[in-house]
Amino acid sequence: MCRPEHFTVSYTINPWMEPAKPTDTAKAVAQWQVLYDTYLQLGHQVELIDPAEGLPDMVYTANGGFIIDGIAYAPKFRFAERAGEERHFIDWFRAAGFETVIPEEVNEGEGDFLLAGDVILAGTGFRSTGDSHREVGDVFGREVVSLTLTDPRFYHLDTAISVLDPVVGAAQGGPDAANIAYLPGAFDEASQQILAERFPDAIRVSDADGAVFGLNSASDGYNVFISPRATGFEAQLRERGYNPVLIDLSELLLGGGGIKCCTLELRAKRESV
Ligand code: ARG
Repeated sequence: MCRPEHFTVSYTINPWMEPAKPTDTAKAVAQWQVLYDTYLQLGHQVELIDPAEGLPDMVYTANGGFIIDGIAYAPKFRFAERAGEERHFIDWFRAAGFETVIPEEVNEGEGDFLLAGDVILAGTGFRSTGDSHREVGDVFGREVVSLTLTDPRFYHLDTAISVLDPVVGAAQGGPDAANIAYLPGAFDEASQQILAERFPDAIRVSDADGAVFGLNSASDGYNVFISPRATGFEAQLRERGYNPVLIDLSELLLGGGGIKCCTLELRAKRESV
């Protein structure tokens, strides 16, 4: 995670960002701190990357890479405004001992790549390119399911899909299917069909819950960290036996990001058995 000490909205690269609207950096930090503290209270380990001045979107660390088995696939941002973040994340991964792969293709990390069981769900349409889907598949040697986003409000895959069971998967010795929640209307028809076939038990969230970034959530398989405004999704999660944990990041939504955007998963190298 990255404390939003330099958070503001000074440019527009998604429909949520309106530089004319005032932002409150202290409020962003305070809201972010609640998410950070809650992760720790619930037993998660959190590493921090130093925020850099002039890079107001660096708080959205999900875009800083995609990591499986101790290998970090670095980002290559679509817009020049965020390109300066790349070297900070690359330096951090290297210093932390991750094998770091520098990409050729435009990709925005875990914003557009989600590990669901053993497959990588990969988004395109606004940010990461289709070529990056091939590249990420080559880097990790895994099946990649390409999905096309069509609604500009949901410009990253992690705004339209939430992986609910991140730790299952044959690779971890568990079942090979993770369940997901998603917003059907964020995808083109072909992608909707793929999702319906692959995830017949998925939670389909309402447009109202999607529109408040309900799906931009993090899960440890039991606790699901979601926006308090996504009340329908909260009820759906409870019905399925998950424990919704409500965290309000309204200030960070002014930049077009939420809980998941502020969280990059560091999947360590598996111990060999
Ligand atoms: N302002 C940032 C951008 O447009 C927000 C990124 C949100 N991140 C995410 N993983 N969805 O790039």
